[in-house]
Amino acid sequence: MSKKMTVACLGLGGMGGGLAHRLCELGWAPVVWNRSAHRAVDFAPVASRIAATPADAADGAEVALISLADEKAVEAVLFGPDGLAEALKPGAVVIDASTVTPAFSRDVTRRLAEIGVGRVEANVIANPAQARGGDARVFAAGEPETVARVREVLVALGRQLVELGAIGTASTMKLVLNSLLGAQLVSLAEAVSYGEKAGLDRDLLLRTIADSAFSSPVMSYRCGVMREERYDRPTFRAELMGKDLRFAVGDAAGHGLELPVIATAERRYQALVDSGRGGLDAAAILLQQLTDGGARNDGQA
Ligand SMILES: NC(=O)c1ccc[n+]([C@@H]2O[C@H](COP(=O)([O-])OP(=O)(O)OC[C@H]3O[C@@H](n4cnc5c(N)ncnc54)[C@H](OP(=O)(O)O)[C@@H]3O)[C@@H](O)[C@H]2O)c1
Repeated sequence: MSKKMTVACLGLGGMGGGLAHRLCELGWAPVVWNRSAHRAVDFAPVASRIAATPADAADGAEVALISLADEKAVEAVLFGPDGLAEALKPGAVVIDASTVTPAFSRDVTRRLAEIGVGRVEANVIANPAQARGGDARVFAAGEPETVARVREVLVALGRQLVELGAIGTASTMKLVLNSLLGAQLVSLAEAVSYGEKAGLDRDLLLRTIADSAFSSPVMSYRCGVMREERYDRPTFRAELMGKDLRFAVGDAAGHGLELPVIATAERRYQALVDSGRGGLDAAAILLQQLTDGGARNDGQA
C-alpha cells in the first residue's frame, strides 16, 4: 500500500476540528496546530504531534489543510510571523477549507505560487459533526495537476468530491449556497416572530414549519436549535454567517449585480454581532428578531 501523504491541520475550530478528526479516524495522524492551544489538546492521542506555530506545523508537511474563520485569519496563518509560507517546501500544497471571497482566494493562490507552493480550494458543505463523520461534500478548485496531487486527502475529507475548475469557483459555489442558508434563516425568524405575535405558540410554529414542505434539512435542524434554545453550542456561528453574506454581496457587486434580499439578511446578522451575540449559532437570528422586533435595522430607519 502506498504511503499516506504527510498532512498538517491548522485551525481546529468546529469545522477544522471535524475535518482533522476525520483524517485521524482514517489513520492519517496529522500534525495539528490551533491559535488557542486548548483546542489542540484533544488531538494529543491521535495526532503525530501538536505544533507550536504554523511554521512548525509546516515542517515536513506535504499538505497543509487549513480551516480558519475569515480572510484575516488565513492571511495571518499563511503570511504572518511564523506563518506557513515561511516553512512550506516548494511542491507542498495548501488545501484551504476556509470560506473566503473568490478574489482573496485567487490572490492568496498567486502569492503561494510565487514560492512554489500550490493551493486548492476545498469548500465544505456540512456541519462539523457531519464533517467528523465523513459525511461532508467537498467542492474543490485549483490547477488540475495540483488538485490531482492531493486528491487522496480531498477524497478522505468527505463522502463526495466535486471538482469545479479554476481557483475561485469553489469559493463562489460556497457563497451561493450560504446565501440561501442565511436568507432562509432570517425569513424563518421573521415568520416565527410574526406567528407568535399573532397568538400562535412558538414551539408549535417551529414544529409545524420543520415538518412542512417549506422546510429543508438545514431549516429543520435550525428549528430544533430554536425550539431547544441551543444557541450557545454553535455549529455555525452567526458572525461567520454574516461574513459569508457580506462576501456574497460584495462579490456580486463586482459582477454588477445587486442582491437586495441577501444584503438585508447580512445587516440582520451584523446587528446580532453588534449586540455581542456573534458567537452564538446562526439560529440566534431568532433572538435578534424577538428582541428588536425586526426593528428597522436595514439602514433605512
Ligand atoms: N461550521 C460550519 O458549519 C462551516 C461549514 C463550512 C465552512 N465553514 C467555514 O470554515 C471556516 C471555519 O469555520 P468554523 O465553524 O470551524 O469556525 P470556528 O469554530 O469559529 O473556528 C475558527 C478557527 O479559526 C481560528 N482563527 C480565527 N482567527 C484567527 C487568527 N487571526 N489567527 C489564527 N487562527 C484564527 C480559530 O482559532 P481559535 O480557536 O484560536 O479562535 C479557530 O481555529 C470558516 O471560514 C467557515 O465559514 C464552516
